[in-house]
Formats: sequence, structure tokens, C-alpha cells
Amino acid sequence: LISINVSAQLNQVNYDEKEVPEYKLPELLISKSGRKIKNTKRWEKIRRPEILKLFEQEIYGKVPQTISISEVNVHEETTDIFDGLATRTQVELVFRKDDQELGVNVLLYLPKDTAKVPVFVGYNFKGNHAINDDPDILLTDSWVPDNPSLGIVHNQVTEQSRGVSNERWPIEEILKSGYGIVTAYYGDVDPDRDNFQDGIHPFTYRLGQFRPGNDEWGAVSAWAWGLSRIMDYLETVPTIDASKVVVFGHSRLGKTALWAAAKDQRFAMCISNNSGCLGAALSRRQFGETIGKITSTFPHWFCENLNKYSAREELLPVDQHMLLGLIAPRPLYVTSATADLWADPKGEFLSASEAGKVYALYEKEGLPVAEMPEPNSPVMGTIGYHIRKGKHNITAYDWKQFIRFAEKHFAPVIAI
Ligand code: GCU
Repeated sequence: LISINVSAQLNQVNYDEKEVPEYKLPELLISKSGRKIKNTKRWEKIRRPEILKLFEQEIYGKVPQTISISEVNVHEETTDIFDGLATRTQVELVFRKDDQELGVNVLLYLPKDTAKVPVFVGYNFKGNHAINDDPDILLTDSWVPDNPSLGIVHNQVTEQSRGVSNERWPIEEILKSGYGIVTAYYGDVDPDRDNFQDGIHPFTYRLGQFRPGNDEWGAVSAWAWGLSRIMDYLETVPTIDASKVVVFGHSRLGKTALWAAAKDQRFAMCISNNSGCLGAALSRRQFGETIGKITSTFPHWFCENLNKYSAREELLPVDQHMLLGLIAPRPLYVTSATADLWADPKGEFLSASEAGKVYALYEKEGLPVAEMPEPNSPVMGTIGYHIRKGKHNITAYDWKQFIRFAEKHFAPVIAI
């Protein structure tokens, strides 16, 4: 019977609310031993570590050992970008172990003439040069999926893809609102393909080991690790306010941003855009993308242990509302899009709503509404949410709300 259920689930995608199975979410605020978690002290001492460990073991995979930045190479620094609005810096974070070396190129635009600035930090999909027409952004030499229409062949980018993602990156608006923007190509940390011989993973292998252990990091966990190393670097930049770093990401990189913020409490705020399955959406709803689908299409994203839950969501000891709960009491913004049913907008809203229980322990407002708001009607408590009209994407509209949300929670940036 079980195998029939598995193949039935793998072959169809449910977009019908009436077909969502009945489910019971695992309790956020009852510990493994049955203790009620009634205050922040117990949350931080007992329940938070329990939940974090479960996500580590069963879903994203733990980082096997500490790897630190070996060296920072400053490629260039230019002080008058966008008519004097910003400085641009490009640095390479170098990681070394034995004869292995990995470089992650980080691009920073920081508003000028401002004291320490808050920043948004998030990965891009196609290389730093794809986020803007700026001709001086270095091209990545990392592996990029082929895309001949953008001149990406033999997994290498060319000039042709410069600026192709600029609609997703309204850099000047971000800078004008007083925020800096920091990005890196996620494939610098680990190329997005089912291959555990490249990227950062081999740095932790024992002799004769070729892939991570069952409870060790998949790609999402490796990308999240990379965001924390970028944070290590940001803490050393004197013009950045490291207490106001917002980690954000779209889609698979939204899943990554959530996991990074859950693990690393130095991120002061988190934005998950259209992150869907194993991002913000509740797995037990099995609406749109399911665990069975995601683990078969992207077998390298999560740890091996996750495969146990393919078409057996009810056995998972956690669900995604608990991942969002790990971000408390820090501000968290979750978005959906009306045509992005694959990511299960309702499941994203419901988990954001449930996560409010942890925020309540801190006497913070979670989502300020009980029902899903109308399209293009953002709601902003300490947890915020909007569902934008349109497709799976990150748009200028989304960015406007991110900036508003950041302005609501961080004191306004004061120009000097
Ligand atoms: C696929 C995948 C999603 C993911 C998305 C993306 O659609 O199934 O889980 O979020 O790619 O990263 O764009």
C-alpha cells in the first residue's frame, strides 16, 4: 500500500484545496519530553535547540566541521558609482584546505556619506554581473547551468548575460533608501548540480569519502553556510552596521535564506520570497511541490535522511512553521505570488501564521491578521506577509515592501 501511495503522489501534483489531506502539525511549544514551553528561557534552552537539531538531521544536513575564511582578496573598490550615490567593492573570500581552494566573489554597493549602513545580503542565480549593467562587475568563472540564449555555454558565462537579471535588483532604489546591497553567486559556494565533488563539500571529506553522510549538508545547507561566511566578512567592514543585516532570497535561495537565519542569529532580519517547498510552505499540505518531487528532481539540495519522508510527510518530526519559529524574535517577511501555486501560497501564509506562537513568547506580534490578505495588500507585524499578483519572481513591488518592512523595524538611517 505504501508503495502505491508513493508513486501516486510522485505522479500527480495537487492544486485542489479540497484534496489537501487532514494533517496535524507537530507542536512548536511542547518539548520532546512533553514539557510545555511557556517562556523564552525554556524556548531558548530546550525547544529551540531540539527543533534546530531535527532540521539539521532530517532536512538540510549539518555542516560537518568548521571552515573559516583563509584570506580576503580585495579585487577593487570604486567610490563614485551611480552618479556618486554609492561605493562598489568586489572582494574574494578564499577558503583553503590541503590542496583545495575555493573562491567566493562578493559584490557590495554601499550608500555613500552615511554612517554605518544596514544592508540586504542575498545570493544571485547567474553571477554577480547579471544583477546590473555595470560593466566593471567581474564575470564569474564558476560553473553556471548552460543557457545558450544568454551566451552561457560549456557552463561558463560571457558578456552576453551582463545585466540580464537587473529587474530583480532595483539597486538604486535600495541605495537611495539608505541600505546597502551585498550579493554573491550561489554557485561559487556550491554549483547547483547533483555532484558532491565540487564546491565546498569535499573540504570536509575523510580520505576515500565521496559524498556527505546521511545527516550531513546538502546544497541548501552549504549555501546557507556561505551566507554565514559572508556575514563573517561583513562584520569586518567598518561602514556596515553588522547589527542590521537582512538576509534575503528568492525561491531555492529563499529556502537558503531561511535556513541561514534559523542557524545564524547574527542575521537581524530575514526575507523569504516565494520559497515554497522546504522553505516557508507547510510540507504536510502536499499542495504543489512535495517532498517526493523535490527530492527526486533536486537530489542534491537536502540531506539523504530527507528521502525517508517522500510521500510520508506525516512522519516528519517537524514542519516548516517550526523553521520560521527558529527566526523569532527577529523580524521575518514571507511572500507568495498568486500564480505560484507550485510554492503553495496558502501553505506559506499558514506557516508564517503558526510561527507567531514563538513570537508571542517574546511579546511580539506575529502576523497581524488571521486570514490570508488580498493580493498586493501587505501586512506587517514582527512577521510580515504579502501575496503579489503574478508569477514566481522577485519584482520591484516585492522590493518596495522589503524596504518598508526594514524601515518599520530598524530605526531610520540617518545621513551625515
Ligand atoms: C523549482 C523547484 C522549487 C524552487 C524553484 C526555484 O521550481 O521545484 O523548489 O524553489 O525551482 O528555485 O526557482
